[in-house]
Amino acid sequence: MKFFVDTADIDAIAELNDLGMVDGVTTNPSLIMKSGRDIKEVTKEICALVKGPVSAETVATDADGMIAEGRELARIADNIAVKVPLTWAGLKACRTLADEGRMVNVTLCFSANQALLAAKAGATFISPFIGRLDDLNLDGMELISDIREIYDNYEFKTEILAASIRTTNHMYEAAMIGADVATAPPKVIKDMAGHVLTDKGLAAFLDDWGKTGQKII
Ligand code: E4P
Repeated sequence: MKFFVDTADIDAIAELNDLGMVDGVTTNPSLIMKSGRDIKEVTKEICALVKGPVSAETVATDADGMIAEGRELARIADNIAVKVPLTWAGLKACRTLADEGRMVNVTLCFSANQALLAAKAGATFISPFIGRLDDLNLDGMELISDIREIYDNYEFKTEILAASIRTTNHMYEAAMIGADVATAPPKVIKDMAGHVLTDKGLAAFLDDWGKTGQKII
């Protein structure tokens, strides 16, 4: 499973990128707002740092507006994936931008039927939002599973990008189901390293080591 980082925070991306853990980045208008940066400036910096796809989201609500904004965002760098919402206008924009050879990430997906339409419209990535479904006491991971089955049934090439990930368990379950990509906040990715038995085991080893009176260096 590829790891995308769901942030516009350059320092956080750089830290994970240095470890080889960043296969791409996703941003959205809320994350740009949170960064306090100009969208084109910060996106250009991210694209220079990360080799993989960097999603930059359009904000127009009509197809022509999304297409124009998508072309403008794609001028920032070759690794831009234009992000459009899963509306009828977004699907039209997806078709046009995909036919122009651009990567398109269709976002705000909450049903398997929406994902089916995005694949038909030539999306490079479909972004089902797990966490926001879980917030409503629905099963976000079931949606990932349904889309995986449908895409495999018909050999669609659109990659399933599990989004709105809130917990390390979301990462585990997305990987078990076979999501192609998961995009997660930096903290969730770092939290995957933690385990209470690792901490306990390390404390015991260090305690015993102290009793030997030895030094390695
Ligand atoms: C990524 O592409 C999405 O914009 C993001 O994962 C949404 O996450 P949220 O539901 O935590 O805002």
